[in-house]
Amino acid sequence: MLFERAKKIFPGGVNSPARALKHLPAPLVAQGAEGPYLYTDRGRLVDYCLAFGAVILGHGHPRVREAVEAQLRRGWIYALLTEQEVEFAERIRRHVPSVEKMRIVNTGTEATMNAVRLARGYTKRDVIIKFDGNFHGSHDYVLVKAGSGAATWGVPTSAGIPQDVVKLTVVVPYNDVEAFYKAVREVGERLAAVIVEPIAGNYGLIIPDRDFIKALREETERVGALLIFDEIITGFRVGLGGAQEHFGVRPDLTTLGKVIGGGFPIGVFGGRGDVMDLVAPSGPVYNAGTFNAHPVSVAAGLATLRELETGQPYKTANEAAEKIAKAVEDVAGRAGFDVVVKQIASMFQLYFKKGHVKTPQDVRESNERLYLKLHELAIKHGVYLTPSQYEVNFTSAAHTGDVVEETIAALERAFTELKSQIG
Ligand SMILES: Cc1ncc(COP(=O)(O)O)c(C=O)c1O
Repeated sequence: MLFERAKKIFPGGVNSPARALKHLPAPLVAQGAEGPYLYTDRGRLVDYCLAFGAVILGHGHPRVREAVEAQLRRGWIYALLTEQEVEFAERIRRHVPSVEKMRIVNTGTEATMNAVRLARGYTKRDVIIKFDGNFHGSHDYVLVKAGSGAATWGVPTSAGIPQDVVKLTVVVPYNDVEAFYKAVREVGERLAAVIVEPIAGNYGLIIPDRDFIKALREETERVGALLIFDEIITGFRVGLGGAQEHFGVRPDLTTLGKVIGGGFPIGVFGGRGDVMDLVAPSGPVYNAGTFNAHPVSVAAGLATLRELETGQPYKTANEAAEKIAKAVEDVAGRAGFDVVVKQIASMFQLYFKKGHVKTPQDVRESNERLYLKLHELAIKHGVYLTPSQYEVNFTSAAHTGDVVEETIAALERAFTELKSQIG
């Protein structure tokens, strides 16, 4: 069995924790992907994980494939400036005007690491505030009370991070304005930056109050700290302008990733021109990378942005998420479950609980066991939901009406079976 071999060579048998699917006997093995479907050792599955949000046009989109193939014909790495990356960046800036200047890196993790370093370099201060359950990648500055796989595996703060580093990251409850004001008062003059997922997609889906986001902007401005929006999930996902457009708030720095690489590795950190000018070689804050602005990722990203600009992908993907969210409420209700469903644009998540979901604590109070059981049953019926209640489901432009119907029918069967199993 492949997993046995994999366990002998990879820690836990995988190369990223969220792939381990600890509630199943073995992780899924991928064989291919096309449109809305993943082809796996458990058969064809409608994909709602979509590489944790990296895919928005659907798998193997022809425009992206053509762009990548064309790039391969021209060679695939130069480590020099290219016209294509300038065009790509200009397009990003057109849609996200707070990003006046940017640096293109390889992953979201690199993007947030550099954004925090830059904020510290700019303000000459050292403490950052992050929020409980927000996930900003796997580096020392932010891997404190993080969401995503860290929450699924119950690893609130990674081993191996020096106490001196942990001390510089103050963790505050998400979507709690009073707690935030208090933390800002306590940190005082040492506050370099506040980093936040403006819509949280790593502790399930949590859509914060507008007042919370506004408070972040006003307070950081008042105390001379920078506001970093981590839009690695939400950027070009909740719309071309991301969550900052949705809330009408302009952060000082933004991080992007996932969608903008069209399924290839990418990260971007960018923002105010005066702050970005501190990045090497124009300034003293160092960032460099052999693979920065990799031509294949940029080609895939550019093709993706062009498609998104037509508006059609958002229309299809958002409609799919809306319909499924509504159907899950109905289907779960009919099967006799208390379920809360949250949805925005092409993201949704369901929680086995009564009441509402506005904070990470609300997510923790959901019945995780039922979610994982549902996940397993959905696979049996041909649907791959995101593998944890601490992650989020995504739809894509390939999730057309017929695929949505197929999904709803499969979920109905899964909920019914779940009910009969738990009695
Ligand atoms: C909001 C957010 N920030 C940062 C990251 C890290 O990005 P990457 O996995 O590309 O390093 C993620 C990944 O899930 C994310 O969701």
